[in-house]
Amino acid sequence: MTWWRPGVLYQIYPRSFADSNGDGIGDLDGITAHLDHLRGSPGSLGVDAIWISPFFRSPGADFGYDVSDYTDIDPVYGDLAAFDRLLAAAHERGLRVLLDLIPGHTSVEHPWFRAARSSRTDPHRRLYIWADPAPDGGPPNGWTSTFGGSAWEWDEGSGQYYLHSFYPEQPDLDWHEPAVHERIGEVVRFWLQRGVDGFRVDAIDRSIKDPLLRENPAAMSTQRRFDYFRGQYHLWNKDRPEALDVVRSIRRSAERVKPGSLLLGESYIPIERLARYLGDHPGDAFDLVFDFPFLDSGWDAGALRHAVEAAEAHFPPSGWPCRALSNHDNPRHATRFGRGSLRAAAMLSLTLRGTPVLYMGEEIGMADVPATEGEALDRAGRDAARTPMRWRNEPGAGFTSGEPWLRIGDTSSVNVADQSDDPHSLLSLYRRLIALRGASAALSGGSYRGLDMPPEGGVLAYVRESGTERRLVVIECRGQDGRHDPFAAARGRLPETGRLALSTDTSRRASGDLDLSGVELSANEGIIVDL
Ligand code: NOJ
Ligand code: CA
Repeated sequence: MTWWRPGVLYQIYPRSFADSNGDGIGDLDGITAHLDHLRGSPGSLGVDAIWISPFFRSPGADFGYDVSDYTDIDPVYGDLAAFDRLLAAAHERGLRVLLDLIPGHTSVEHPWFRAARSSRTDPHRRLYIWADPAPDGGPPNGWTSTFGGSAWEWDEGSGQYYLHSFYPEQPDLDWHEPAVHERIGEVVRFWLQRGVDGFRVDAIDRSIKDPLLRENPAAMSTQRRFDYFRGQYHLWNKDRPEALDVVRSIRRSAERVKPGSLLLGESYIPIERLARYLGDHPGDAFDLVFDFPFLDSGWDAGALRHAVEAAEAHFPPSGWPCRALSNHDNPRHATRFGRGSLRAAAMLSLTLRGTPVLYMGEEIGMADVPATEGEALDRAGRDAARTPMRWRNEPGAGFTSGEPWLRIGDTSSVNVADQSDDPHSLLSLYRRLIALRGASAALSGGSYRGLDMPPEGGVLAYVRESGTERRLVVIECRGQDGRHDPFAAARGRLPETGRLALSTDTSRRASGDLDLSGVELSANEGIIVDL
């Protein structure tokens, strides 16, 4: 089995993980200095790989997602030597490293774009998407960008519009152009040759658009959320059939250098269309694609079950789901679901069939820290989920000795040091769940079967099975104490008793036998039962 199926991934937002030089901004040496938290020492979480959000040279209009040099480190984060040290230290611990590949757009300051806009005949011109004004002199069509306004920006110097799916500072590359395949292929090969283990691939559904620039229809209320935003249904500039060719191109580049590299795609599209990005067979396109059902499911047993089983239903038998409770683009789940459900949410994430991607700080229960008026830096309003990691309960939180780039928030109980020493902390629960998952073929790689618990009970229950090993997971989501009957819900497919392997309520429960027709759960408690 590939390492990433049973594995657990961990997302690092490098600006906010650890600052080694006191400038208030996280950096690569900071990450290297904190690898003990992740793997290879007795108190580690035990994750298998880190995905580091972009640290390439960038003017920072989109905090690194606007790249001006794909193969160099932005000085604020360090340099290539610091990266090599980080990679070596991670690999020494058996921790794999994934980078963020941004194939869809560069920064306006990338030399390719500077050359492209310098003259209409410059050979770099064709790397980007240019068009003449509409007859009325306005943008070539009505496409809107993710962050608002027209997706077209007028370039005065060369007298045409260029396309940007995100900020105007992020001109879109033209994946209909073979030279783009070559240039991004070189980037892929550069980092794999340097030793990285794969990539999280940014915004893949936005990578390629209709070459005829056809108009999008206006949004209709029946369309799914991910497809319509900014007033229109993004039919022609999002999730085009050719996007699979983009993925396959990246795959071919990766295979030339390091067969078996992990490619994890990011895309906000409905689950029904996500599986396509896995290609026709394993190793054809992406290995994993993010499924983001938890970002808007709410903490509700029925909604969660639906979200989980949609992936089961829509992925091919060879496919493997990949989910995150939080990331750097959305409010943290401690804020969305509420603090009461954090322990149960951890159990859910780490016991489902699929690869979980933890977001830095969720293991200690970090919630959003909203910026106050005048403090906001991200124009799309995502600062609150990106605030610095809290290592210790002290000014600077052990994150920085200087002035942090974003407000840190309350460090009093939400910090790594205090939770490390407490066997009943959320952090300790994460460690135990990850260890249990790693030691269990059923939890890390087994099949999934949902149980039809009565909706009014507010409980989610499922069985994971591999060979003779079977584990039952039961999670209370309504925030009420109660008695539940998974035995009846399984209609004869469960034994009458099982042994408690772990409860989220680590201080209350001892392990022991459980009668499965009358399982007592406290509010927001989750349990794993050996059958
Ligand atoms: C998705 C990234 O996660 C987000 O932070 C970024 O703004 C867009 N893609 C554009 O690159
Ligand atoms: Ca720094």
